[in-house]
Amino acid sequence: MSIIEKAINKSIQDEANSDSNLKHFAEKESNEIKKVTVEDTLKSIKVMPDVNDDKNIVFDIDWKRLSDIGFAAPGSSNTEAIEEYRNIKRPLVNNAFGKGSEGIVRANLILITSSLPREGKTFTAINLALSIANERDKKVLLIDADVARPSVSKVLGINHSPGLIEYLDGADINFSDIIVRTSIPGLSVIPAGKLHKYSTELLSSNKMALFVEELSNRYPDRLVIFDSPPLLAATQGEVLAKLVGQVVLVIEAEQTLQNVVMESVEKLASCDVVLAVFNKTKRNMDINYYGYGYGYGQYVN
Ligand SMILES: Nc1ncnc2c1ncn2[C@@H]1O[C@H](COP(=O)(O)OP(=O)(O)OP(=O)(O)O)[C@@H](O)[C@H]1O
Ligand SMILES: [Mg+2]
Repeated sequence: MSIIEKAINKSIQDEANSDSNLKHFAEKESNEIKKVTVEDTLKSIKVMPDVNDDKNIVFDIDWKRLSDIGFAAPGSSNTEAIEEYRNIKRPLVNNAFGKGSEGIVRANLILITSSLPREGKTFTAINLALSIANERDKKVLLIDADVARPSVSKVLGINHSPGLIEYLDGADINFSDIIVRTSIPGLSVIPAGKLHKYSTELLSSNKMALFVEELSNRYPDRLVIFDSPPLLAATQGEVLAKLVGQVVLVIEAEQTLQNVVMESVEKLASCDVVLAVFNKTKRNMDINYYGYGYGYGQYVN
């Protein structure tokens, strides 16, 4: 069985492990950060509004600029990229809402990660979010969870605070304070927020675990995409992978070594679904290299 098959073929036993891991991470709060009780958390989560609430900020994203720098933005003439992201999105949407969703816990929560820096996580996360939001019947919430080096907000040009970190750190910040609606009706963004000394602990906190649980339960019609740091460079990616139902592992073609990919796959062993995207391919790849690869990005089976 190939390494990717191993990752994709998730057993019921893994599901049980994933639940206990979630509990483990939820309990693993540091003494050094402000303690937030379950009661505090539930109080703040109760006021989670509908993300389409008109009171929320609407941010006008410069789609032309995004299209010019290679994103599959609305109106982009890059039809090849638009088609590739449609293909990448399909199994994720099916796993979240279709027949494939049975047995996947929090299937509508998707983490985009990679082994190493610069493999294309943010590029993939934004393109996937755009592709999903452009289907008029689907809504997507894009969360910048690369809190040490946030780039979703930078790329989209969203200059908004507070973000995820302030929400996790402060009892008085509500979900409605951190969500930014965009000029695409189906696309909302949660920026990372300010740099924080204990960002890893905040992402591993009870409040984060309850936050993602709430996202999954309250917005079952919405896909939530988390952009994250590289798995082998920081621990946050691994922590986040235990909170979501699906993981997309971005692999930079002709660059990332197979043993490096294997190390990442091992870190994702407790995740329900792991799909791999072969990114930055320049030509048709030999299918015996990692698997199938073509064009912008493609799943490896
Ligand atoms: N398929 C692609 N085609 C063209 N350019 C790409 C592609 N994927 C990524 N890039 C470019 O490569 C660079 C690195 O991509 P990106 O920032 O998405 O990587 P990352 O994995 O998020 O990096 P980091 O680990 O620093 O967060 C960016 O300039 C991005 O625009
Ligand atoms: Mg990034």
